[in-house]
Amino acid sequence: MQRTIVEKVEPVAEGVVSLLLRGADGPLSSWEPGAHIDLTLPNWLTRQYSLCGDPADRDAYRVAVRHDRLSRGGSEYIHLFLNTGRPLDVSLPRNNFPLRPAPEYLFVAGGIGITPLLPMLTAAVEAGASARLLYVGRSLATMPFAGDLRAVHGSRVRMHVTETHGRPDFAAAAAALGPEALVYCCGPTTMLDAAEAVFCAQRLYLERFRPVDKEFAPGEAFDVHCARSGRTVRVGAEESLLDALNHAGLRIPSGCREGVCGSCEIPVIGGEPEHRDDIGAPPGLMYSCVSRARSSDLTVDL
Ligand code: FES
Repeated sequence: MQRTIVEKVEPVAEGVVSLLLRGADGPLSSWEPGAHIDLTLPNWLTRQYSLCGDPADRDAYRVAVRHDRLSRGGSEYIHLFLNTGRPLDVSLPRNNFPLRPAPEYLFVAGGIGITPLLPMLTAAVEAGASARLLYVGRSLATMPFAGDLRAVHGSRVRMHVTETHGRPDFAAAAAALGPEALVYCCGPTTMLDAAEAVFCAQRLYLERFRPVDKEFAPGEAFDVHCARSGRTVRVGAEESLLDALNHAGLRIPSGCREGVCGSCEIPVIGGEPEHRDDIGAPPGLMYSCVSRARSSDLTVDL
């Protein structure tokens, strides 16, 4: 955990504020474009937000938060109650959406999905790649950082306003890409689904705010052996691995509890996990809030 102070709360679009969080105890942990942090709010909720400032600035983090009408208390608290001067604990940055090297990029953002893509676009341009951004929103007034993007990146950025122009033509955008282009997309589920259908010939990387609807067979109980502590914990059929470990006193951090943020990762060293997350667990890791075991037991490095 890192201690920060809320230095600025600033509207950056209709229903969106940007937070500038200054490190309270000196420089903050470094991060790469695409990373996010967990904010532990004074109302005890933990929420994940992409870092959208300058990775070279170790003194402060910037995030942007849309006021979600269906807020479960996170964005609502930030918009209604969070003031400058408040101390706020933030996690170390975690990156499930890293920028891979390529000669050409297309970044596709929908609304608040612009946040991880802002530093990615800057990094791609600085690396000398051909980089373009297709930024989709209902109206310009609802699109955070639209003015800054046009001022800094000019014709690399194309704004697409759905209120007046309907859905963007992803097929035309895909046809204009070279064979080595990478596509990075972040936004609402409908947009990500459309991108998946169209950019199938390119290497496409998505970041989701919400899990994809999927069906799994009913969970079965299994044992998890914790190699370092020498303990074995039974995970009930109706219980998550995360809850079982926490109830056993092995404290595992968590954020979304939906398999999209990565906070609850644990190293697996034996058995076969059944991955149910939407991040894409790298070899040797699993996300304990949603994932379970295919084998009768697992061994984890806890
Ligand atoms: S708590 Fe977010 S992936 Fe598990």
